[in-house]
Amino acid sequence: MTVTPETRFRTSQLEENDGPPVNPTDNRTMGEIIAARFSRRGFLMGSLAVSAIAATVSPLALIAADEARAAEASAFKFDELEAGIDDKHHVAPGYDADVLLRWGDPLFADSPDFDPLKQSAEAQARQFGYNNDYVGYIPIDGSAEHGLLVVNHEYTNPHLMFPGIVSIVEKDGKKKAEVAPLSKEQVDVEMAAHGGTIVEIRKQDGKWQVVRDGKLNRRIMSTTEMALSGPVAGHDRVKTNADPSGTKVIGTLNNCAGGVTPWGTYVMAEENIHGYFSGELPEGHREAANYKRLGIPEGAYEWGAHYDRFNLAKEPNEPNRFGWIVEVDVNDPNSTPKKRTAMGRFKHEGAESIVAKDGRVVFYLGDDERFDYVYKFVTAGTFNPNDRAANMNLLDDGTLHVAKFAEDGSVEWMPIVFGQGPLTAENGFASQADVLIETRRAADLLGATKMDRPEDIQPNAGNGKVYVMLTNNSKRKAEQVDAANPRAENAFGHIIEIVEDGGDFAATKGKWEVLLKCGDPSVADVGATFSTATTAHGWFGMPDNCAVDSAGRLWVATDGQGPKATGRTDGLWAVDTEGAARATSKLFFRVPIGAEMCGPLFAPDDQTAFVAVQHPGDGGEDWEGFSRPSYYEDPSTRWPDFKPDMPVRPSVVAITKQGGGKIAV
Ligand code: FEO
Ligand code: CA
Ligand code: CA
Repeated sequence: MTVTPETRFRTSQLEENDGPPVNPTDNRTMGEIIAARFSRRGFLMGSLAVSAIAATVSPLALIAADEARAAEASAFKFDELEAGIDDKHHVAPGYDADVLLRWGDPLFADSPDFDPLKQSAEAQARQFGYNNDYVGYIPIDGSAEHGLLVVNHEYTNPHLMFPGIVSIVEKDGKKKAEVAPLSKEQVDVEMAAHGGTIVEIRKQDGKWQVVRDGKLNRRIMSTTEMALSGPVAGHDRVKTNADPSGTKVIGTLNNCAGGVTPWGTYVMAEENIHGYFSGELPEGHREAANYKRLGIPEGAYEWGAHYDRFNLAKEPNEPNRFGWIVEVDVNDPNSTPKKRTAMGRFKHEGAESIVAKDGRVVFYLGDDERFDYVYKFVTAGTFNPNDRAANMNLLDDGTLHVAKFAEDGSVEWMPIVFGQGPLTAENGFASQADVLIETRRAADLLGATKMDRPEDIQPNAGNGKVYVMLTNNSKRKAEQVDAANPRAENAFGHIIEIVEDGGDFAATKGKWEVLLKCGDPSVADVGATFSTATTAHGWFGMPDNCAVDSAGRLWVATDGQGPKATGRTDGLWAVDTEGAARATSKLFFRVPIGAEMCGPLFAPDDQTAFVAVQHPGDGGEDWEGFSRPSYYEDPSTRWPDFKPDMPVRPSVVAITKQGGGKIAV
């Protein structure tokens, strides 16, 4: 695998780049049909068409009655934002959306000011990192107005970061943007821009402020030393030339979503790790099948050209040291982050948790790839709310389970335990460490249900339910449809709701149903199931991140909309889950074009929604008029409509109600 000018345009949809072979026929997919529809006409036309179609296909009176009932029953009280596409972010009327942190913002007293023309790894190590995904809040002294914000920096977009590395070339009579090879210095900036930020924040006079040089402020990077802990630590398959002990890893990669544990640590999910590795494994190497199952090497990054550990020919075991959940003790800025191997190795999306009735702690884990699985990890020990130190190694011992969704609406959580069922020497596993290193293969053997890209999974303490975001799967064929993944060529994704047996989050069985099939409900072929009270602005596609506020209400953030997919940018939608309003959705916030919507997170008093605007302005050549090869290029040589004032730095935004108060109440 070599890095090419094309692969340097990294997207948040790396998941879409591999997996099963593309259908060799010329048949248009559902996604292409929908795309054609949105490219033919503007968003406004689309919204007018919604009411026209709705009026002709359904008895008007019935719809009006349903709408009134749903609107009245809705748990959300705010005036809906209009969907659309432009280069700004927008929030519902009556709310302020203030940028709190941007890529390059200083975190420490000695941090240099952000200067895109003078980037260095040293500067980036003292500044807020790039592409922010997960956002968590850890209160200081129990405060809802003073705490630590923890933010994951998932990946880097060199074409948006580094001036002068993009050129426009003519190919087959068409203009095309190409990214030049990165220098070692630029790779070092990328490595420092990955990872996470821990930063003290405080609300003063109703507005959040960053506490520069807060004593717990910290950057985690792809160069930060970490420990492997749990069953895989010290195993031969994680030993390298640099680390013959198999216990010390340099850095973390592609931290997508994550979580904050009940004991106040920060957990970061390592997702698309395949992109960082290049080179070829030695002939006949034992990890060949393991790596193939994860798409390693994908070669989107050229780190392997500068650092041997990312080159499979030189360090064949290095990829086994990534793809884990990383736990960080935020109370000690010098603590060594721990890769908790008991929680399995795959393309971890997130790690939201909840304390079960008996005190064990349950983590819900998605593996974001088409046809991959939904997992949960249940600790062996129990949470001690009175002794933080007693909880600090809970994640080293427990049982990982994978979900099998049955047609009858039941779900079984199958334990992934060496020696049980097919997880034996006969299938190449010699220990639990082997099982965990190859979690996907173990789950394959157990017959887990192949899902439509499991993203964030959120338990709801208020009603005992669990919401699973399934973002899309354009490769699911009609003959591969099942009850839990009910649409072929699932372009817009869906949300599943699980209720664990006996209301016990640690249960090994539960019931499930589809809460929502996403997409435009006015297009019959899409088969979306938003309530009729959902307006033309209220529907969405591609659910990715989600949050439950302290009132138990569901909020869904999306990744992958835009002019061609849905005629609207990504954003944050409030989704009713209960009573007559169930499956009614309302738009609250939307991002500038090219961005995906991450976070979201509510402060403990529900008076702030923190959202993360990731890769604003991205989109390569597809979105001419908005996009640009690099923000800091001379606009006169680039796209005609280049907008130098576009809010293109990835940022965390704090949304508050004007005049104060809880959000959407
Ligand atoms: Fe990083 Fe699955 O989104
Ligand atoms: Ca995600
Ligand atoms: Ca995403």
